Amino acid sequence: MVEAIAIDGPAGAGKSTVARLLAERLGFQYLDTGAMYRCVALAALRSGTPLNDPTALGRLAEEIRIEFQPGTPQRVFLNGEDVTDLIRTAEVSEAASVVSVHPEVRRQMVRRQRQLCEAGGVVLEGRDTTTVVCPDARLKVFLTASLEERARRRLRDLQAAGAEATFEEVLEQIRERDARDSGRSVSPLQRAEGALVVDSEGILPEEVRDRILAAWVENGGQPPPG
Ligand code: DC
Repeated sequence: MVEAIAIDGPAGAGKSTVARLLAERLGFQYLDTGAMYRCVALAALRSGTPLNDPTALGRLAEEIRIEFQPGTPQRVFLNGEDVTDLIRTAEVSEAASVVSVHPEVRRQMVRRQRQLCEAGGVVLEGRDTTTVVCPDARLKVFLTASLEERARRRLRDLQAAGAEATFEEVLEQIRERDARDSGRSVSPLQRAEGALVVDSEGILPEEVRDRILAAWVENGGQPPPG
């Protein structure tokens, strides 16, 4: 058993917000696995590596350096460069969804992610964290919300970041990503056995955090300090 909370679920369910809140409250490290796939995507776009070349992408995924620097927000470094904002563009999001389909890329990322959560004290988030990366986590959570609610949230985030998009565009993007993420043959989005299902529809992130914290303690996890 690993002293960790692993959170899985579809795009826009609020996984990163809730994972960040939980990590802060528990004094745990926050492992954003999606940011790692985004780094591979950015590195591929920059180096002109074709997104359909599994061998080259696998090599790239093995070679790049990815580091996290704790803070609010946590900062992400690719080969020593701060790419926290660069990996959030629509172009990189699309490319991340494509590169993450390749088993060679996933193998490299999963290997690194397992190393990072081996020692425990981690909240990790991303769609295979409960099934593949850390199935031994003390608490596994499947966080979900309706497609429309997830599109509304994603649109709000995009607008806050200064990007232009319509609700229909975002809804369509999320629908496509759901289909791709659920339909792929390697690590498709699925609910892990024993995972706590939390529907975040219409609930504040802090309330979602508190529900998960209660389940963590119920499962024998160390209560938050203070
Ligand atoms: O959670 P996110 O939007 O930052 O993830 C970016 C992409 O990477 C998304 O298309 C899903 C994929 N991903 C994955 O395949 N496995 C993970 N553990 C995390 C993300």
